[in-house]
Amino acid sequence: MSLPKEPNATTGLLVGCGLSRYPFGIDLIQQGRLMNINIVATTPFIDQKPGTSGLRKKVTVFKAAHYLENFVQAVFDTIDAPSGSTLVLGGDGRYWNREAIQVILKMAAANGVGTVLVGQGGILSTPAASCVIRKYRSFGGLILSASHNPGGPEGDFGIKYNTGNGGPAPEKITDAIFARSRTLSSYRIVDAPDVALDRQGSYAMGGMMVEVIDPVADYADLMESLFDFAAIRALIGGGFRLCFDAMHAVTGPYAREILERRLGAPAGSVINGVPLEDFGGGHPDPNLTYADQLVAIMYANDAPDFGAASDGDGDRNMILGRHFFVNPSDSLAVIAANATLAPGYAAGIAGIARSMPTSAAADRVAEKLGVPCYETPTGWKFFGNLMDAGKVTLCGEESFGTGSSHVREKDGLWAVLFWLNILAARRLPVEEIVHRHWAEFGRNVYSRHDYEELPSDAAAHLMAHLKVQLADLPGKVFGDSSGNYRVKFCDDFGYTDPIDGSVSTGQGLRIVMDDGSRIVFRLSGTGTEGATLRIYLEAFEADPLRQLVDAQQALADLIGIAHELSQLKQRTGREQPTVIT
Ligand code: G1P
Ligand code: ZN
Repeated sequence: MSLPKEPNATTGLLVGCGLSRYPFGIDLIQQGRLMNINIVATTPFIDQKPGTSGLRKKVTVFKAAHYLENFVQAVFDTIDAPSGSTLVLGGDGRYWNREAIQVILKMAAANGVGTVLVGQGGILSTPAASCVIRKYRSFGGLILSASHNPGGPEGDFGIKYNTGNGGPAPEKITDAIFARSRTLSSYRIVDAPDVALDRQGSYAMGGMMVEVIDPVADYADLMESLFDFAAIRALIGGGFRLCFDAMHAVTGPYAREILERRLGAPAGSVINGVPLEDFGGGHPDPNLTYADQLVAIMYANDAPDFGAASDGDGDRNMILGRHFFVNPSDSLAVIAANATLAPGYAAGIAGIARSMPTSAAADRVAEKLGVPCYETPTGWKFFGNLMDAGKVTLCGEESFGTGSSHVREKDGLWAVLFWLNILAARRLPVEEIVHRHWAEFGRNVYSRHDYEELPSDAAAHLMAHLKVQLADLPGKVFGDSSGNYRVKFCDDFGYTDPIDGSVSTGQGLRIVMDDGSRIVFRLSGTGTEGATLRIYLEAFEADPLRQLVDAQQALADLIGIAHELSQLKQRTGREQPTVIT
């Protein structure tokens, strides 16, 4: 046994793991696998504040010396997992995923982790990671992804910590991680060879076990337990055609296994199904702008019956019918209204939660079902407590995120399968299902306008300019062509979690009209370049005869009011959004 040596914080000298000051070192020796733990000096970083969904930065930032390690050590210090705990680790396969996984494994071994379950090839979609954390009752997990942001050497990278319920860590934990990342002076990492990530099996790393697992099987089994696979197989067998665009991101292997192998969709139904480190140069965000290949297929003369896409890490979804786009807010409402058609939800839903900027379409369904509907800030982490407490079954965000309490992340393929289950049961075209839904519940005409890569200070000033007007706006009338909009109330949205009482403020500026129409302004918390301004627009239309209008046309007056109030053009030089949803 090597004699204990004092860690040298300046040089990052090797330290024998027999040191009694490091309890995990004792474990290593007890298992007879002596291994060196490096205590490496680091200077704290001040910019590791997790955003809407974890820490996201350019790859170039993450690659800076000790940057990743600093954050990961802050996580280990904060979560304080009991020695011997199990963690889950995987990512969306983007550039630098593999390298980061090897580093994290060695740091986990040096921090007393007992077992790490890592997806083969370093792959785990975000919902699959949530599934695995829950299924194997892990202490938590680290997910490497920058979601829908582009990848590659010049692209983005990200990391987030999920707790044992499978969901993103709540703010009190992410705040503590951030605080720790600003004060760290060293991190721990073992000397060990890289793990062969491409072969499933068990590998020892000091006293820690690394289990390289099938990244798809557990998730696919969970899906099969929730949906009527026999009915969907029959639908597809009867000539129903579908196209799923994996956008060269993580869902390729999942979609092939589930849609093509288990449900019998013909080979080729999944397009762009091979995950690539740079997503083929694309922007893996399933919306009408970035999923243009799928959109072209679904609007062609010989379009399939059903189209769908998912994002970089597999938690988002876009649903299309033949020549028809399903707005994500409507998708949540349609799923809620038809939930009992899926075996996993046959007993009914406990409630629904939606993020504040998401349209109130789901509220109308909840009302009719006699279940509660919660309005939370943007970001999936706000749904976790409600699901854990059994208050809601379904959750959704306007940003192409839908999910349920089967995991604690939004889930792209889950939404696709829910739609297929509904289509198999109702045997109507997608468009018809949505039109009938509007006729029954009314239509919340909805659109989101994104202004990307604005100078940060211009965006901040625009928001400040809006904020000072809020107090004077109620009662103000805006003239328009189809009537008048009168402001009922405005606020900067705040939320008190009904379960743990935690308070989140500054979650978006709301301007709500007398008739329930709304304009919401928010700055993105996930971008890595400049600022992204999101303007959310919503108007209610109860009359079925007036529901089949183009959303942009129906919202034109609200769009005008939004521009007027924000002085968008004067302040940013922009008039046209980068992305319209
Ligand atoms: C965006 C979406 C939000 C979603 C998040 C993570 O965050 O708007 O609904 O939860 O990505 O996928 P934002 O960039 O708006 O902060
Ligand atoms: Zn995502």
